[in-house]
Amino acid sequence: MGSDRHVALTEADYVRLLVHGTTAFELVRSGLELGIFEHLENAGGLDARRLAEAIGLAVQPARIMLLGLCALRLIDKRGDVYVNADMTRRKLLRGSPRFLGPLVDVQARVINQAMPDLAEAVRRNTNVGLRHLPGPGTTLYERLTAYPGLQQVFYANMGDASHKASRQLLQRYDFSGVRHAIDVGGGDGTNAIELARRYPHLTVTVFDQDSVVRLAADRITDPDLRRRVHFHPGDILTDPLPAGADAILVFHIFEIWSLQRNTELLRACHAALPDGGVCLIYNFVSDDEGTGSMSAGLVSPYFLTLASGEGMAYSAADMEQAALNAGFSQAQRYEDMGFSHALVVAHR
Ligand SMILES: C[S@@+](CC[C@H](N)C(=O)[O-])C[C@H]1O[C@@H](n2cnc3c(N)ncnc32)[C@H](O)[C@@H]1O
Repeated sequence: MGSDRHVALTEADYVRLLVHGTTAFELVRSGLELGIFEHLENAGGLDARRLAEAIGLAVQPARIMLLGLCALRLIDKRGDVYVNADMTRRKLLRGSPRFLGPLVDVQARVINQAMPDLAEAVRRNTNVGLRHLPGPGTTLYERLTAYPGLQQVFYANMGDASHKASRQLLQRYDFSGVRHAIDVGGGDGTNAIELARRYPHLTVTVFDQDSVVRLAADRITDPDLRRRVHFHPGDILTDPLPAGADAILVFHIFEIWSLQRNTELLRACHAALPDGGVCLIYNFVSDDEGTGSMSAGLVSPYFLTLASGEGMAYSAADMEQAALNAGFSQAQRYEDMGFSHALVVAHR
């Protein structure tokens, strides 16, 4: 469901953007940190001197920020006055439902420091970028448990991304026939909470690392949700799945692991379900040719370099095949889900 709006760039400028990508990212991140977009919006546009005064900056650095943000097409200039471009209003203002601030934060604080290790990660076929977060465990998820500030930044983005993506999921799949769902690697409980809110008969069990299920539990104050959203701490790859569910959710998990490990995980899901039970696999995907989307191409190196050392945005065909290889009798694909996501519903 990508936007059909276009930004026209010459090939030379496109290549410049690639080569100076770190500077482009810092212009956006610093623009957010300094509140430039909010100031321009609240004032209905400002000239450079007034913007500098409003933020408490010298005029010269304010001009440098405005020049960079205009070159990136995030700000327009009308006479002497700078105003936000429409895409900035949609994506870079805090009140916008499509605000990208949590993604910018996780890139800046967790991901970007590891990405210069990509070539070494490709050569060694493992997540060498983890060296930036020393501690126990071989995945980013385990390492983050020792860095509560960064863990919070990670789940602020993960929860935000899941919240945006789950609207599409809830439009496409009807959970009325499900009684109890296990949310494998359910994170901060965003999906479990949304599902339990939407379906008042549903019980959801979040199965994730101990420190993560505690984060999720702390978010729930509503007594009805507390009664129906349960927490099961453990290792999703080695511990038995909680029993008694008729649906298993595998959301933003398949992209973390190798196809072999995913097939083993789905085999465990198959074994934990009764006949007629379903396993829902929902995450970022690439197209079947392995040539896009832009998000699939840009998120996959992160899984290799930092997150796990083995995952990527697979195609929906890969997800379907893994479900069948794990023993599910049939699998349906839903590919046009928006946000470069696909859903595979595997039936036991
Ligand atoms: C990318 S997040 C997805 C969170 C959630 N499913 C969502 O869609 O928002 C992956 C989650 O898997 C959990 N996870 C990864 N490996 C795990 C393991 N071996 N045992 C338990 N949880 C694990 C992480 O703690 C993290 O919360």
